[in-house]
Amino acid sequence: MIKVAPSILSADFANLQRDVQMAEKAGADLLHIDVMDGQFVPNLSFGMSTVADLRPVTSLTLDCHLMIVEPERFVEAFAKAGADLIGVHVESTKHIYHVLQLIKAAGAKAEVVINPGTPLDMVSEVLPLVDQVLIMTVNPGFGGQHFLEPMVAKIKALDAIKREKGYNFDIEVDGGINADTVKACYAAGATVAVAGSYVYGSADPAARIQDLKVATN
Ligand code: DX5
Ligand code: ZN
Repeated sequence: MIKVAPSILSADFANLQRDVQMAEKAGADLLHIDVMDGQFVPNLSFGMSTVADLRPVTSLTLDCHLMIVEPERFVEAFAKAGADLIGVHVESTKHIYHVLQLIKAAGAKAEVVINPGTPLDMVSEVLPLVDQVLIMTVNPGFGGQHFLEPMVAKIKALDAIKREKGYNFDIEVDGGINADTVKACYAAGATVAVAGSYVYGSADPAARIQDLKVATN
């Protein structure tokens, strides 16, 4: 069964506490928080004060996906705000190894994120360092986009490397995930699924969280 990380990008920002606590009650495993700076991606969203405000209202693992240029400027602040897991794009910094070291030194779990157009080779040197690898299954920036089917082969290739080398990082997928697309991702080796619009765009978000679990059971 896959672990589910609802993305609050599609939640009601005026009722964030309600939407987060609903996800926790419904059996979510992590809470996915999309941080955007209007430069790395053409959209704006949350900052570390949102993470700090959410920390006391949930015991879910706070999974912070940083879509910002030079994330080395902010990873310590996110760890301090209460992020449990911090994801940084390999495309967003000249010093991915260093940023991942900074995240671990700050006491958080480290994740490397890879865009659809970036080859897997770009992250091979940091795989021994990370707790999670996030394979983007849409171009980052917005919720509600269509799943990019060719990414299934990328998940498989990463899972093969993971097995061959004996790594035990989680493989997370993000973008266009629903009860259909999650099956191919899970079969390919994904262990965590982010879902934004599928969960929060529904009249029954709790049922959608369960649907993702049932689909991979
Ligand atoms: C996109 C974000 C996603 C987004 C996914 O840049 O990284 O986490 O919330 O939304 P859905 O699940 O609607 O594709
Ligand atoms: Zn995300």
